[in-house]
Amino acid sequence: DDWAERGAAVHIQRDADANGNIQIKTIKKGVKDFTFGRVLGEGSFSTVVSATDRQTLREYAIKILDKRHIIKEKKVKYVNVEKNTLNRLGEHPGIVRLYYTFQDERSLYFVLDLAPNGELFSVLKRMGTLNTECAQYYSAQLLDAIEYMHARGIIHRDLKPENILLDANMRVKVTDFGTAKLLDLPTPTTTEDGEIQFPIHETTMEEERASSFVGTAEYVSPELLNDKAACKSSDLWAFGCILFQLLSGRPPFKASNEYQTFQKIIKLDYQFPLAFPSQVKDLVSKLLLLDPAKRLTIAQIKLHPFFKDVKFGPALWAKKPPRLV
Ligand code: ADE
Repeated sequence: DDWAERGAAVHIQRDADANGNIQIKTIKKGVKDFTFGRVLGEGSFSTVVSATDRQTLREYAIKILDKRHIIKEKKVKYVNVEKNTLNRLGEHPGIVRLYYTFQDERSLYFVLDLAPNGELFSVLKRMGTLNTECAQYYSAQLLDAIEYMHARGIIHRDLKPENILLDANMRVKVTDFGTAKLLDLPTPTTTEDGEIQFPIHETTMEEERASSFVGTAEYVSPELLNDKAACKSSDLWAFGCILFQLLSGRPPFKASNEYQTFQKIIKLDYQFPLAFPSQVKDLVSKLLLLDPAKRLTIAQIKLHPFFKDVKFGPALWAKKPPRLV
């Protein structure tokens, strides 16, 4: 069906026939092309398993989704959103890449980048808090990844330490785009060499007030709670919450239940711990603002004194990770 065909992953096999003529066959990847390993994570609708491509020996993470369960729980839309989003995102060091999708009778399979160092959440749980150098390193990469997805017209809408994975080199890889919002992209142009190019996506606030999805309580923006609308700067609210959490070990808005957490968010009821570095305090307080239009933009965040000795762009991803302290 449609899902199996579109975006179908193929690899190319070159074979010589009896006359020595080279034949090129394209073959779809499927379950039997991988050796499955250990379970990396389990969600309510999926299981992520490590896997090795039998031909290339390359390792991946494969997200397996149970079709019956997804249909029964009306989550088909989320699965398609995740696939379409990851396909639009393509290749960026800070975002989990989708290589292949396929299915069998029972399940859907997403072949993804493996992030062998797990969730930033686990690192934070183990360490308690991070020092300023580590917080700067992880937040700079997260910001670069957010900039990339926003430029492609994608709002993540559920950024949190659980959705920030770490690759073999301890570099950030954002995952879980099932609840992302794909904004309409401007018309692509074709370059002289026939390459299709999408203009960088820029929007004003009013354009994209999107749907009624609510993410994880602690990171939900006030505009989502008040107007049921997310915009690009809703991701920057979450970025502010995560940066706060890296340095203090807890998110800024946390209560014993979701309702109380939401109350704190809409009242902007949070306090910095006494030991919080003043420079980061300045940055976070310019992100955790009730009016999304008043929050710093990504360009302004990059220019903030907290990031003054950070080189954004490719250098950010070549940097040796700081020792976790
Ligand atoms: N858990 C969920 N997704 C994962 C991935 N891509 N790599 C490693 N662990 C994961």
